[in-house]
Amino acid sequence: MKKKLLEWYKQHGRHSLPWRNTDDIYHVYLSEIMLQQTQVNRVMEEYYPQFLSKFPTLQALADAPQDDVLAAWSGLGYYSRARNLHKTAKLSPLTLSQDEKELLKLPGIGRYTASAICSFGYSQAVPVVDTNIARVLKRYFALISPKDTTLWSKATEILNVEFPRAHNLALMDLGSMVCLPKNPKCQECPFQKHCLGKEEPELYTQTKKTIYESLELFYGVCVKENRVALHYSTEKMYKDMLVLPRVEPLEENFIGSFKHSYTKYRITVNLYRAEEFLEDIVWVDLNELKSAPISSLIKKAQKYF
Ligand code: ADE
Repeated sequence: MKKKLLEWYKQHGRHSLPWRNTDDIYHVYLSEIMLQQTQVNRVMEEYYPQFLSKFPTLQALADAPQDDVLAAWSGLGYYSRARNLHKTAKLSPLTLSQDEKELLKLPGIGRYTASAICSFGYSQAVPVVDTNIARVLKRYFALISPKDTTLWSKATEILNVEFPRAHNLALMDLGSMVCLPKNPKCQECPFQKHCLGKEEPELYTQTKKTIYESLELFYGVCVKENRVALHYSTEKMYKDMLVLPRVEPLEENFIGSFKHSYTKYRITVNLYRAEEFLEDIVWVDLNELKSAPISSLIKKAQKYF
């Protein structure tokens, strides 16, 4: 089974992904953080190369102001990832520990990331379980709603200790290319013969439905001498990012509204001309907005400035 998996990986795996072709542990770590909530293509084509050209080493990242780090993350969402990345670089600016337990002490590094760093970066014989691998395991072993600990022990059970890195990458690719959530391509699967879940593959992929929350927000727009009034958010959603200041909605000042999705929120953004603000303001030159720590919401709002 392990041999078949590696053969499949040799032929079909995504070998050219840049973070699979580096032995720089910082690059591996960065890729894992970016890939947690973002599609491979978006990371590979836009954010990963640009981030690395701005902050080529952990030390460069540690030395950078947080504003610059958040600005490089601008548009990617889940900004706590960038804040934690920065904190970790400051705590560990030379390299990252090879000890999984030590890695787990660093901000933003949980079980998945620690094992991904140890497996993909340091080629240690440790199991890795992400959502794709979890789906493969659930089907292969016919596990309905297993606990995380069960999945991790199954991953340990089948780990190829001779080629652990390729094995884990192969499982990940199998999950994202063959063992798909809907209509899995069982005919192409190297596990087909022994898979216990192949008769009813969709039985094992019932995931929790995301519960979306509607939100109505009221922001003030004030532009003077080519500068816009912004505010450093203290709210969890956009902490330390520059956002538009909140205002009391006054109908006569209404400019326009648009819809915006962010994590679990479905937001209606209402914009109003404003002169006075309840919150502390920083004035940002409109030409410098692209290098400021702003979210996609502000990028969308820009056409109303
Ligand atoms: N290769 C290594 N880690 C990966 C990930 N998280 N997603 C896609 N490919 C990867």
